[in-house]
Amino acid sequence: MTKIAPSLLACDFSILKEEVNKVKESGADILHFDVMDGQFVPNISIGLPILESLRKNTDMIIDTHLMINDPEQMIDLFCEAGSDMVSVHIEATPHIHRAIQQIKAHNKLAGVVINPGTPVELLSSILADVDFVLVMTVNPGFGGQSFIETTLNKISWLNSYRQEHNLNFEIEVDGGVNEETGALCREQGADILVAGSYYFKHDDYKEPVLKLKGE
Ligand code: DX5
Ligand code: ZN
Repeated sequence: MTKIAPSLLACDFSILKEEVNKVKESGADILHFDVMDGQFVPNISIGLPILESLRKNTDMIIDTHLMINDPEQMIDLFCEAGSDMVSVHIEATPHIHRAIQQIKAHNKLAGVVINPGTPVELLSSILADVDFVLVMTVNPGFGGQSFIETTLNKISWLNSYRQEHNLNFEIEVDGGVNEETGALCREQGADILVAGSYYFKHDDYKEPVLKLKGE
């Protein structure tokens, strides 16, 4: 069963608690929390104080997507602030293996993220160590962008790789996901669909959950 992870970046932050309650009631599985540093990506978003408040107010799984340079400097803080899943970009550190082990040392699920322009084969030496791979289907930094179709090949490559090597990492996709592009991702083997603008534009959040799950 496909899991749905609404990206809070597209919610109304002035009523964050209500939004999170509605997300939970909608049947979504995971809260996707986008952290941007204005360096790795050309935008700044949300960080530790908001994560800590969220953690106090929800028992949902929180999936922290670190779009920051030198993630090793911040991993401990984001784990301690209440993330359940933490992912780091392969492009953001020369020491991806160390960064993944650092997340695991906190008993959190550890993920590696890959940008649209980075060859997926670069991930092969870390795949046995991760709990999930986050495939960016837009260039990170902003919500509301269009899905980049060539990224579908990466999902199917990862799906084949895990079968051939008997691995069980999950495949998550992020960016431009709606009911059409989400279906394409599911067909290629995606397990978790992140959706920001598509999800939050609905009045009733149950609707996008059912559509993204293909029900
Ligand atoms: C983009 C973020 C995404 C973004 C997705 O840099 O990582 O999580 O919020 O937003 P949509 O679904 O609108 O593309
Ligand atoms: Zn994200």
